[in-house]
Amino acid sequence: MKYTIHPRMSMKEFQDICRFFSEVDQEAYFKSKMRSLFPDSLVLDFNMGRSALQYAFRVMGLQGKEVLLPAYSCPFFTQLILKEKIRPIFLDADLKTFNVDLNEIQEKVSRKTAAVLIIHTYGAPCDLKPILDLKEEYGFLLIEDCAHALGARYRGQMVGNFGDFALFSMYKTIPNMGGAFLVINNKEFFREFRGKREEIGMFEIGMLSLSLGIAPRVVGKAVGKLIKLSKSSKAKLEERLVPIKRSNAFVLAIFNYYLDRIPEMVKKKAKLAPYYRKKAGKIGKVFPQSMVGQPSWMNFSVRLSNPEIRDYVFEIMEMNGVLCDKIWHNIPVISKELVGKYRLRQDQYPSAIKLSRSILNLPFHHFFSRRDIDYIVSCLEDALERGLGDD
Ligand SMILES: Cc1ncc(COP(=O)(O)O)c(C=O)c1O
Repeated sequence: MKYTIHPRMSMKEFQDICRFFSEVDQEAYFKSKMRSLFPDSLVLDFNMGRSALQYAFRVMGLQGKEVLLPAYSCPFFTQLILKEKIRPIFLDADLKTFNVDLNEIQEKVSRKTAAVLIIHTYGAPCDLKPILDLKEEYGFLLIEDCAHALGARYRGQMVGNFGDFALFSMYKTIPNMGGAFLVINNKEFFREFRGKREEIGMFEIGMLSLSLGIAPRVVGKAVGKLIKLSKSSKAKLEERLVPIKRSNAFVLAIFNYYLDRIPEMVKKKAKLAPYYRKKAGKIGKVFPQSMVGQPSWMNFSVRLSNPEIRDYVFEIMEMNGVLCDKIWHNIPVISKELVGKYRLRQDQYPSAIKLSRSILNLPFHHFFSRRDIDYIVSCLEDALERGLGDD
């Protein structure tokens, strides 16, 4: 595949990482880096973002309490809500930003709101000021879901600094096999987590093989020389929770290796983003998102005006060597289990439904040149023409 959403790693970088892993105490390195990035916070590493979030819910004691959260989000949230027994109040999306509609928070917040969770969707920061004003007024806890937004900034400060809690994924904007971390900014909730370390299994090797563009068998052999591999696999991960563990030491080494380069990666994408917007905008059939702050650009998201042809467009692009992303093509937006249990109605979230039907996430990486963007947009144009009817 010529282009994938998953970030790439060169063979030279992989070799450097293997050396770095063998020579440096990764946990100490991670702690010291995090102390400089978040000096007044407690930062804990986890196997996945969803586990970091589940841990945060438990520390906050949210069982039985009302939590406001976006309707346009990852399917695993259903399992999280059910398992942690929170009372979800869903917020519809803003079609321009793909983040929550701020008016929705204003309308649905009350004295009963224990927490508000916002997502910096696809790396585009939420407009936090109005939310922080409401937090001041109502006293709820704020969780920033920065899973997509490593390195994004709002009002000059890195996202993750604004909420009581913030979680980040280690494998969405940089090449890695998994991993996450939780930033606890509210001292009231400082609790160390000393769980087991994650093992490396088929899922992780598959992720690394995507990054390297070589067969999982070869990657498994190379990684197996450094650490013990397990037989575990994480099928259908999009919808599932996983046991709460700490990150694997090798995953931490990959993250540590890239950490200092993240600002430069984000800067490079920011420089190219106007070109992507211009090219995609020229087709006239797509709608790049509007932004506040400095996004980290997990990918370049466009909204098709004719959702009926999205799967077809996805396939044509794949045939041309461009593998787009399917998050979050989940319909219905709110799962059946939640609709039944909390007496919700899908039609209460029209914008979230619209987004989940029409968004296509195109690859966008720091090493892209204008030629890469030209190619991807021309594939999209071709696919739209063949799909006929995207007006
Ligand atoms: C917004 C959001 N939050 C959290 C997660 C969970 O992250 P992880 O895949 O590291 O568990 C995801 C996963 O895609 C996500 O999209």
